[in-house]
Amino acid sequence: MQEIIHQLSDQFKADLNSSNTTESIENLRIRYLGKQGHITLLSQQMRNVPPDQKPIIGSALNQLRQTILDQLQLKTIQIQKAAEAARYANFDPSLPGYPFPHGSIHPISQLLARAVAAFRRIGFSLASGPEIETEFHCFDALNTPPDHPARNELDTFYLPDGRLLRTHTSSVQIRVMQQNPPPIRVIAPGPAYRRDEIDATHLAQFHQLEGLCVGPDVSLADLKGTILFFLREMFGPSVQCRFRPHYFPFTEPSFEIDIRSPQISEEWMELAGCGMVHPAVFEAVCNSRGDRAYDPDTITGFAFGFGLDRLAMNLLGIPDIRMLIENDLRFLSQFS
Ligand code: PHE
Repeated sequence: MQEIIHQLSDQFKADLNSSNTTESIENLRIRYLGKQGHITLLSQQMRNVPPDQKPIIGSALNQLRQTILDQLQLKTIQIQKAAEAARYANFDPSLPGYPFPHGSIHPISQLLARAVAAFRRIGFSLASGPEIETEFHCFDALNTPPDHPARNELDTFYLPDGRLLRTHTSSVQIRVMQQNPPPIRVIAPGPAYRRDEIDATHLAQFHQLEGLCVGPDVSLADLKGTILFFLREMFGPSVQCRFRPHYFPFTEPSFEIDIRSPQISEEWMELAGCGMVHPAVFEAVCNSRGDRAYDPDTITGFAFGFGLDRLAMNLLGIPDIRMLIENDLRFLSQFS
C-alpha cells in the first residue's frame, strides 16, 4: 500500500508538470480527488489494511491528499499569473499616452462672459426672459404699433397661439420692470429670432445683449459713459465710438452706436442700438403693474441692445456669421 502511495505521488508530479491550463488542472483534480479519483479509491481500501499499519498508511495518504490540493492550487495561481503576464507582454509603458481631446467654450460664450464681467464692474446684474414671448412684451409695451414692420408675419416667427419667437431681447426690459421697482440696472443676454435671409452677416437666430438702467436722474450722459466704459473694456482704450441718431419706437432720443478700432479696421461698424426709455414704455409698465412706480414724470432711463454675434465677429476677426454655428472644430479650436 505504501508503495502504491509513493507511485501515485510520483505520477501526480509528472501529471502536474504536463498540465498547463486551468482546464487540465481541473481534470487532474477530478482524476485524483474526485468521487472515482485515485485518492478516494485508495481511501476505501484502508479497511483492508492491518490495524498496526493503519496510522502510518492513513497519515501518508492524508499527506498526499493535502499535497495534491496545495500543488493544484499553486499551479492554478501560476497559470493565471502567466496568462496575465502574456496579456501585458506587448505593453510598452514608455509610449506616450493617447491624446485626450478636451472641449472649450464657444467664442460667443467666451465673449459673453467677458461682457458680463465688464458690466458687473459698474453695478449691472443679470436678467433673463423667455425666448417664446407675448406680443405685449415684445411689441405693445415697447410702444411698437400694430402696423410696425417688425410685427409683420414676414419678419417674425409667430406660433399658432399668437405668441412669437422674440425679435429682440428688449422684451426683457418690460419683464424686469413689471417684477421690480426702480432703480434698475440690468443686462439681459440671449438669443433673438428674425425671418432674415441667411447670409454672411445674418442668421435667423442671433444673440443680443440688452441693457436697462432706470432711476430718478438717469441721463444720456450716463448712457454714453456706460457704453464707452464697456467698449474700452472689450476693445481697449483706443476704441472710437460715435452715436448716430436713429429711430426706435421704445427710445427717444434713439441712436445707433458705431465703433472704429484702429487695430482692426478703419471702417466704422454698427454694433448696437440705444436711447433714453420712451415715456410711453414707462406708461405701459405702470398700467400693467397697476401703480405709478415708473411714472415718466419722476423717472428716466436708458436702454441699449448689442448684437453679440457682431461683437464677436469684430473682436475676433470672423468674416462670416455662419461659422459660429457650423460646429467645425478647425474653426472652433482657434478660440480654445
Ligand atoms: N431692440 C433693438 C434692436 O433689436 C435694439 C435696442 C435696444 C435699441 C434697446 C434701443 C434700446 O434692434
